This record gives sequence, structure tokens and C-alpha cells, in this order.
Amino acid sequence: MNVVDVIRVKRDGGVLSDAQIDWVLDAYVRGVVADEQMAALAMAILLRGMGPGEIARWTDAMIRSGERMDWSGVGRPTTDKHSTGGVGDKLTLPLAPTVAACGVAVPQLSGRGLGHTGGTLDKLESIPGWRAVLDRDEMRAQLAGPGAFVAAAADFIAPADRKLYALRDVTGTVESVPLIASSIMSKKIAEGTASLVLDVKAGSGAFMRDVASARELARTMVDLGDAHGVRTVALLTGMDVPLGGASGNALEVAESVDVLAGGGPADVVELTVALAREMVASAGGGSGKDPADALRDGSAMDVWRRMVAGQGGDPDAALPVARETHDVTASGSGVLTWLDAYAVGVAAWRLGAGRARKEDSVSAVAGVVLHRRPGDVVRAGESVLTLHTDDASRFAAAEQALVGAIELDGTREPLPLLVDRIPATD
Ligand code: URA
Repeated sequence: MNVVDVIRVKRDGGVLSDAQIDWVLDAYVRGVVADEQMAALAMAILLRGMGPGEIARWTDAMIRSGERMDWSGVGRPTTDKHSTGGVGDKLTLPLAPTVAACGVAVPQLSGRGLGHTGGTLDKLESIPGWRAVLDRDEMRAQLAGPGAFVAAAADFIAPADRKLYALRDVTGTVESVPLIASSIMSKKIAEGTASLVLDVKAGSGAFMRDVASARELARTMVDLGDAHGVRTVALLTGMDVPLGGASGNALEVAESVDVLAGGGPADVVELTVALAREMVASAGGGSGKDPADALRDGSAMDVWRRMVAGQGGDPDAALPVARETHDVTASGSGVLTWLDAYAVGVAAWRLGAGRARKEDSVSAVAGVVLHRRPGDVVRAGESVLTLHTDDASRFAAAEQALVGAIELDGTREPLPLLVDRIPATD
């Protein structure tokens, strides 16, 4: 087969055959297709799209580029959640132990943050001693014991996606529904979960800014999961405003522990419970316990402590705290109508919470704490946000990111927390 012919088919708006898709992804992993050729094909796909048959085959070929894990021996049903990413999105942290406390195991392979959205592994690594890399036996022991793990995706999980995603990142070809859907779902299906709940975010701090594109992405992913025997449902959720009261690694761990202790911000609790109920239901109901009860009665917290300890972390250790803080104050008085998620994400990133390149390290302590949310009354001069970092020279760039982010008495309305539910097609 000739790669230039394959690129031409898509460039001219044609449909790639199963054989072409299988060959091109395999040849790319083997180094026979060069990065520049794959970049041209990815751009053609971004501009021309792919039909449902092509997306399914593309996903399948990426799964087959590595191994598909199997958790059938752990003695409990399995489920997982994937979020398309947002600002302050720490939901995996309270969610995994809550679901495990309801009798359903959670095998979660996760990623690190890139750009303005945080990564779950970066957050958990702010717990002293916690480690992201587990071997298969350790993963199995965590599922059979506490009932959940959150670990770094191994090299054998969809290696074609690993290589292609790095290429897309530097060639302007991330923002394509077929490429995003196949990328996410190939990893989740290869991870071996029996059911999956997707948290597809829309709004200023999300990949998909508008609800229509988020809906299209959700529908594509739900259909892909179902086609591969993974019971899948999606919640469409709003990401115009950061989730919860903090964005940053250790700050979000602390907030998640508050939720597990039965407190925490109302929006984080509401979404944790909504997603946990979907996860437990998609796995057949678990022990019958309601996730809200698992948060109230301390059983989710017990699982959390065992999960953290099982991965080398000390659940009682104090979390690191920033040496420097700086308040961002309201310029006038009125009702806060908008607090822009994207701007807060960029500010946290510039304070050190995120990375610009994969090789960069992140600061555990950096981030933004929110004191007010849309709907609150604010008075001139009072603190709306507090910036946290170890490096005070970063405050100016973070404040620059926040210009125009705080709107008083405006007319824009943030999307609601829960926008819609996308079930499998019958
Ligand atoms: N996350 C992924 O894993 N892949 C994408 O393409 C986009 C977000």
C-alpha cells in the first residue's frame, strides 16, 4: 500500500477502506509511515471528517496496536469514568473511592495535564509518597483490595494513539471529533473496563466550547463504546465556570478530601454523586448502596485512604502549601455573573500548576482559590480569587490571564452544571 494514495483519498473527501486504516496505523507505529505523512493524513481527517464506519475501524486499529487488559478475575464488576477535561476538574479523586465503596471496582488509567486543564496524576502526585506507575499485579491487588486504582497508562495501551496524539498536539490537528473520540475510546476500551461513563464538558474551559460540538463528541464516543461491548453513557456538563473552589494540584486534593469527609463545594458533590450513580448503574447496581450515602457514612473516605496507601501515599501526611499568595480583588460592587474557567485555568498554569510541554515538571502548590462564584454579591476591593505559587515572579503573568475574567452585573449566563444525558442508542 502507498501512504500518499491513502492521504489523497481523504484529502479529496473519500472514505478510507478498512484495509487502508489498518495498514496506515500499523505502518505508522512501525516507522514506515513518517510523521509528516501522518500529519498530512490527520489534517485531511480534521478537514474532511470520517464516517461512523471509518471511526469505528480507526479506533479498533488503535486498540489492536497494543493489548486489551482483562479484569474479569477480580470478583467485582468494573466501571470507569473519563472526563474530556476542565478547570478544577478533580472529580476522579472523590469519585473512584465512592464507586468502589458501592461495590463496583474502578480500574482507571489516567493522564497528565497539558495546557490549561489539570491532570489527575499530577494532582495525586502532590500526596507525599504516592506513585502513578503500577504493574499489572499491583493494579489487580488494588482492585481486589480497596476496589480502585488510578495509574499512568502503560506503554502497551494503544501505542498508536500515544504516537499520534503527540503528533496532533504539534500539528494543529487535535480539534477533530473523529480523532478525539477514537483517541479517548481506544485507551478506555484497551484498559479493560466493562462499562464507562463519560463526562463531556462544554464551555469556555472545555475542549468543546459549544454544546452542539460536545454533544456530537459524546454521541460518537457512546456509540464507539457500545460497538466494542463496553456499556457507555455520557453526561454533558457545563464548564464555563471552574468546578469547585480551587484549581491546582494539592489544592484540588485538599478539596476532594473535604468532599470525601462529607463536605466540600456543592457543585463538586452534585457531579460526583451524579457520575457515581451512573457508574454504579452501568455496572449492574453494585451492592445497592447509594453513592451519596457512601460520602455521608465515611465508607468512601475509608476506600480513599486504602487506595492512597496501596499506591505508596500517606493519607495522613500534610499536603504542600505555597510560600506566596496574592489576592485578586473586585474592581466594583455588584452581582458576580461570570468567572471565566479558561482564564482561571491559564492563570493556574502560569502559576506553575500545569505544563507547556510533556517534559515539564509541575508545581504541587501552585493554583487559584475561588472565594466567590456566579450569583454571589461582591463588594469593591474584596478578594474574589487568591493566587498561590512558590515563585512570586509568576503573579504578573497570572493576573494578565485574568483580565476580563470576572464580570459583574453582566448578561452572559454560564451553562448549567448538568446539561444533558446521552444514553446508548437502542
Ligand atoms: N484526550 C485524548 O486522550 N485524546 C484527544 O484526542 C483529546 C483529548
